[in-house]
Amino acid sequence: MNGEAKRSITPFAREPEGEGMPAHVAIIMDGNGRWAAQRGLPRLEGHRRGVEAIRRAVRAAGDLGIRYLTVYSFSAENWRRPAQEVSDLMGLLKRFVRHDLAELHANNIRVRIIGQRQGLSPDIRMLLDEAEQLTRSNTGLTLVIAFNYGGRQEIVEAMRSLARRVRDEALDPDAIDMDMVEAALDTQGIPDPDLVIRTSGEQRVSNFLTWQTAYSEFVFLPDFWPDFDEATFRAALAEYGRRERRFGGLTVRAG
Ligand code: IPE
Ligand code: IPE
Ligand code: MG
Repeated sequence: MNGEAKRSITPFAREPEGEGMPAHVAIIMDGNGRWAAQRGLPRLEGHRRGVEAIRRAVRAAGDLGIRYLTVYSFSAENWRRPAQEVSDLMGLLKRFVRHDLAELHANNIRVRIIGQRQGLSPDIRMLLDEAEQLTRSNTGLTLVIAFNYGGRQEIVEAMRSLARRVRDEALDPDAIDMDMVEAALDTQGIPDPDLVIRTSGEQRVSNFLTWQTAYSEFVFLPDFWPDFDEATFRAALAEYGRRERRFGGLTVRAG
């Protein structure tokens, strides 16, 4: 599936790594608030426990040989939440980067951030830049953190960048193809997710990776995110392994 000729026929198809193992797993980490409410705890406690679940997911992804793990940490629409919760979530991101970056780096993990940096406070932007810069040459798992991310906003930004090139007469509109759009997205160079997991029982996409999930498999789990562990991860991967991926054709298998 790697040759250019083949790619033009089935643009989204790609052989997964190993047997039935997705190369890229993306997770909509949902249910922190309900996890806390069930226990009579403040929502912040659910978010704190959610960070621990991210650490478990990263460790498990590395152990399982997954190459890309994307986590949806804060959506472009999450600004609609009460100011205190937004500020708590910003604080948790800062603490996560400050506390975990050295260990991620020591484990050869490359960190990439997708989402709009404008609109974030300068200290957060600096931390995100630092995480990407420090780990840019690492060759193990790529951890993609979707922060202040919206799939539609990302596509709008990509359209703007292509339109600017057309305006400057550096690009012929008829030359725009799918590869060019992909290269203009925040996820450039990252393969499309093979598997998207959403916890908490909600069955929707919530503006996550709109372009990239055209042929992803979706697994919806009833568990709240703070309860996510390696066993849950393995259950989702087992479900993925039972799927038959066709990409519009007839014979492509999940692995
Ligand atoms: C996911 O948990 C974390 C973020 C969206 C930041 P929620 O905070 O959405 O938890 P619920 O859905 O209210 O339970
Ligand atoms: C999606 O969860 C965003 C993240 C997990 C960061 P939400 O809880 O914000 O999604 P909706 O509002 O229920 O669709
Ligand atoms: Mg939610």
